[in-house]
Amino acid sequence: MLLGKGKRDLIDVNGIEVAYGHAKVLHNVSLRLDAGEMAFIVGRNGAGKTTLLKTISGLLKPVAGSIVYQGQEIQGWPAESVAQQGIRFVAQEKKVFGDLTVKGNIQLAAHASGEALETAVSRLTELYPKFSTFLNRKAGVLSGGQREILLIGRALVGNPNLLLIDEPTEGLAPIVIEEILRILNQMKAQRVSAFIVEQNLSVVSQLADCIYIMKEGKIIREIREKSQIANTDELEGYL
Ligand SMILES: Nc1ncnc2c1ncn2[C@@H]1O[C@H](COP(=O)(O)OP(=O)(O)OP(=O)(O)O)[C@@H](O)[C@H]1O
Ligand SMILES: [Mg+2]
Repeated sequence: MLLGKGKRDLIDVNGIEVAYGHAKVLHNVSLRLDAGEMAFIVGRNGAGKTTLLKTISGLLKPVAGSIVYQGQEIQGWPAESVAQQGIRFVAQEKKVFGDLTVKGNIQLAAHASGEALETAVSRLTELYPKFSTFLNRKAGVLSGGQREILLIGRALVGNPNLLLIDEPTEGLAPIVIEEILRILNQMKAQRVSAFIVEQNLSVVSQLADCIYIMKEGKIIREIREKSQIANTDELEGYL
């Protein structure tokens, strides 16, 4: 899906500082991703993980630092402009348009990105074939897991360059988490690039090319070594 971008950095977040009013919550945060990689952001509640994804997506403006995406500084850009550059944010709250059908939810994204509806829908049904029988169902009746899958499918509409996914397995039953894991694995095989916030360390260790550990608004470790990524006990120690 995202081939041909070479080894150049897709995104380079450099020393960003983010505050809510006077309360600074991100301190000198730096992270980077090459095209085709999945990096996971791990940390306790309140560590600043959502704030970080919102800042990359343009929903929050950093007070310092830079975000260089495909060679261009995008910090401070409005969220719509960031989205137009191919960065998609899947929020933690799993909010869908409940009164619209599944297809209607996809149609909004297809319209926004200029993609044909059929192609857009196929992005969802390729991830989760069962959705082909739910397309005319109201999104409001979907289970939590199905909503998350719909949101991920919707984020893939228009073939974005970078996904930012906030806690895709939060609140889901183990069997549904397995389904999300399968979907993320399939996306990884297609070289979808993503920063994913995730607390389930088993999911993290099975998918990550890189793990960033956050604590109190700072990145305290970057792990790229395969044996360390696989070691969930060691990862647990950082939480
Ligand atoms: N809108 C806001 N206004 C003020 N403070 C906020 C706001 N949103 C978050 N915070 C604070 O910023 C800090 C980081 O919050 P954030 O939501 O980024 O953490 P998180 O790592 O995503 O946590 P969780 O695991 O609970 O989702 C916390 O101390 C939080 O209370
Ligand atoms: Mg959060």
